[in-house]
Amino acid sequence: MASALWLAFALLISGRAASTPAFPDDLRSTGLYSDFGHKTIDPRNLHYSPQYPLWSDGASKQRWIYLPPGTAIDASDPDIWSFPEGTKIWKEFSFGGRRVETRLIESLGGGRLAFAAYAWNADETEARLVLQRGLKNVVEIRPGVGHDIPGVWDCRACHVGDKEEILGFSALQLSPDRDPKAPHAEHPSAGMVNLATLVGKKLIRSYPVAWASHAPRIAASTTAGRAALGYMHANCGNCHNPSGPLESRGLILRYSVKPGAADETVIVTSLQRPSRFPVPDTAPGTSFFIRPGDPGHSAVVYRMGTRNPLRQMPPLGTEIADEDALKFISQWIEKDLINKEKK
Ligand code: HEC
Ligand code: HEC
Repeated sequence: MASALWLAFALLISGRAASTPAFPDDLRSTGLYSDFGHKTIDPRNLHYSPQYPLWSDGASKQRWIYLPPGTAIDASDPDIWSFPEGTKIWKEFSFGGRRVETRLIESLGGGRLAFAAYAWNADETEARLVLQRGLKNVVEIRPGVGHDIPGVWDCRACHVGDKEEILGFSALQLSPDRDPKAPHAEHPSAGMVNLATLVGKKLIRSYPVAWASHAPRIAASTTAGRAALGYMHANCGNCHNPSGPLESRGLILRYSVKPGAADETVIVTSLQRPSRFPVPDTAPGTSFFIRPGDPGHSAVVYRMGTRNPLRQMPPLGTEIADEDALKFISQWIEKDLINKEKK
């Protein structure tokens, strides 16, 4: 993570850090549970599941949102919603069926967010606020490899665009038209909210009228293409997008649901461009972001697969690569992208 470019990027975003409010020291005081002992979730918190989850070393996750009574989310930017002051979102991480960490974001209003993480003890009777710098090796995920809880500074490195962002509670992520091929797709359970129920409960306003008849989805010519772009939107697009600090690199992995926004063809075409980053052990000038038919010369595949800390993508938040997604995206590049060219 110490490459010069990465440091420059990190410095740029750290300048935005707002002062953090005092989070309670104990998760039980944050409002997630109505009965902590029985782990009963307060019914005011709405359960949800984004269709394209973030890969976090294979953790399974649960998520809940609290909106203050009488408030609604402002969707006038259809891609990056604005949340009322006092909104809280929790994300719980479990490994091997045991709760390990619970992350919390609170909206401070005016587009500012505050971040915290709570670490569970071994018998799950207590979850304590983690220091700003995070906590290493909270659980062994593979022999000799531990999962780390990121520091607050790392939360901000990912939850960023032209402003601080909620990433997985969005129109595309909550669309009722769910992608059955999304890697690690979670099946929504009964009682979860999605875009349609939010509209029905009047918890969202100023959204495009088109959503009433057409649920947002990635327009793609193949089912694998839809899932590949969705995966990269969620796992990479928060940094690689036209409004963030990496704009000039030209690697656009965020998919916009704004009416009239660039479709799959535009994104895929821009991915077929030479990469500044040379894939190791390849001839000079033969590396592309994505080279149709050729995952071996595709920088996206190489950077997803390596866990060399200077090269891995995402640059933080994981200790092990997402092998399923890597296989899926390699096959898409090898088969779908080349077949499309032949058509
Ligand atoms: C590697 C990038 C990355 C890092 C580091 C990261 N997050 Fe996230 N986070 C995401 C993405 C992407 C989502 C949406 C997808 C999902 O929920 O699986 C998300 C979702 C969340 C959510 C649910 C609300 C939302 O924005 O969708 C919370 C709460 C959250 N993160 C808190 C944190 C906190 C607190 C930290 C630091 C301790 C942190 N995150 C670090 C990428 C990251
Ligand atoms: C937390 C922000 C962040 C996330 C998330 C992220 N990247 Fe990156 N990425 C960077 C930064 C910063 C650079 C430039 C420095 C470098 O090359 O290491 C970069 C560079 C790259 C490059 C080289 C670009 C070039 O100019 O040749 C590729 C390819 C890449 N990322 C792919 C990905 C993929 C694929 C994902 C998702 C699996 C991803 N990134 C997720 C921050 C991020």
